[in-house]
Amino acid sequence: MSKPLDQSRMDKIVSLAKRRGFIFPSSEIYGGLNGFWDYGPLGVTLKRNLKDAWWHDMVAGHDELAAPAGAPAPYEMAGLDCTIIMHPQVWKCSGHFDLSNDWMIDCRESKRRYRYDHLTGRWAAHRDKRTFVTTDASGDDVPAELAARAQKFFGLRAKQVDEIAWEGEPTPLPAAVAAGVTLADSLGPDASAPGSLTAPREFNLMFETRIGAVAGGDDDRAFLRPETAQGIFVNFKNVLDTSRVRVPFGICQIGKSFRNEITPRNFTFRSREFEQMEIEFFCRPADSAAWYRYWRDRRWRWYLDLGLTASRLRLREHDRDELSHYSCGTADIEYAFPFLAAGEFGELEGIAHRGDFDLRSHMEGKLVRRDGDLVVETGADGKPRHRGSGKDLSYFDDVSRERYVPHVIEPSAGADRAVLAFLCDAYHEDEVPDEDGKPRSRTVMKLHPRLAPVKAAILPLVKKDGMPELAGELYRSLKRQMTCQYDEKGSVGRRYARQDEAGTPWCLTVDGQSLADRTLTLRDRDSLVQERVPLDEVPGLLRDRLT
Ligand code: GAP
Repeated sequence: MSKPLDQSRMDKIVSLAKRRGFIFPSSEIYGGLNGFWDYGPLGVTLKRNLKDAWWHDMVAGHDELAAPAGAPAPYEMAGLDCTIIMHPQVWKCSGHFDLSNDWMIDCRESKRRYRYDHLTGRWAAHRDKRTFVTTDASGDDVPAELAARAQKFFGLRAKQVDEIAWEGEPTPLPAAVAAGVTLADSLGPDASAPGSLTAPREFNLMFETRIGAVAGGDDDRAFLRPETAQGIFVNFKNVLDTSRVRVPFGICQIGKSFRNEITPRNFTFRSREFEQMEIEFFCRPADSAAWYRYWRDRRWRWYLDLGLTASRLRLREHDRDELSHYSCGTADIEYAFPFLAAGEFGELEGIAHRGDFDLRSHMEGKLVRRDGDLVVETGADGKPRHRGSGKDLSYFDDVSRERYVPHVIEPSAGADRAVLAFLCDAYHEDEVPDEDGKPRSRTVMKLHPRLAPVKAAILPLVKKDGMPELAGELYRSLKRQMTCQYDEKGSVGRRYARQDEAGTPWCLTVDGQSLADRTLTLRDRDSLVQERVPLDEVPGLLRDRLT
């Protein structure tokens, strides 16, 4: 396996997330459920702040009267909230239903599940024993992993490794099986004896359910949506007809999506239930390349403006051979998560130019590319394999008198992945002077104030002499405007430490002087600067700093 960049850092982040109530394993008292996570009191507010920031910056706060910097023209934005279960035909036309999904393979012995195409193997022999050793390692790690697996299987000491006779080169398991290797001869990546791998089977990423009380027939089969995007496409005409928007415009949605991921992993990074924040932006085909560039750059800047470290972010344009058959361009915004090997990045958001694929699919039926053109896929009888709605989803521009099917630019972000990136980025360890001026190590979450779950903590220095009363007065007036906490338990140093771990940007300490002149100390989480400010000016001061 490649060495993670900083696994111990990741372990500390996961532990802090649990300890401070950001993220818990789902159903933990029953042992948890792989790929499902719950957000605790701090986590739910962090995630809500992130989604609110996205909604404000993309939809509610958008100024449609002027073109924002870099935009080809002014444009409108509208919001939507669609159901998780939709008409099954939606997934047939979108391509999700037929998607030849990943093939998976189970190990009966270790009870582990692998992506078939992720396994690599090689024949190894020692004395009278011979087996096809496999590993799920990748890249440069494969030879070392295969050697380690073979050494263990043959029961050899390290100095005997050279006695292993290798045949052929490391080969992906599907290719090896096609060339005659049997699974009965194959030693699974975590098995002690060959023959424990099951035959590969197709794995549909969509969770299936049944509609109605009488379950059983094929007609009541339904699916939990694997993306929020399709709800937007099938409502394109509804939004157009009811909100007076004109092309170019975008429709935005935040909501849950579900994918039965084969190998959920890396904390919340690959979950089976997660939230997406998606925009489908509809534009004139001739302008679509310019809009694609605008949205790619705009979304990139959003993460930077919310404080993600630039050197850990990467904007990666897909190569032509990586693009979906309908796409004229796709870029991923990626983050160097600490659980990844040095130099590796994980996807936060994809920005895709999707052409007219989606609207045409829902009009005409499931499309495929043939000789460079998108055409309706037909069955053996020559009829459409999956019929579209037959509804006209074209757009008539009453100024230019043109009719066309708009092209779509899709910035598609994951709320949970973004929360994870912001948590990882915020995690810092440093030293601060304690009450006696001695250095004390601290863990601090340097979250952007817009994202921080608690904006300010109000701390009476001692629990007497009228300080709790004055602090309580401030708490009540500040609480009307922002999330804040009142804390009078423990030494002030311990209370600062608690707030630093929660990512609270400002601590407000009411002391003896406060009683005399209604001022208090405002401590900044990152600079540790303490200023003396009038208590009555605090709400206005913090409001200004939050915007
Ligand atoms: N409509 C396009 C679409 O769904 P995607 O790249 O499959 O595209 C978009 O997903 C975003 O959703 C990803 O960039 C990621 O942030 C998030 N996402 C996808 N699968 C996820 C999973 N299993 N767990 C957490 N987030 C996921």
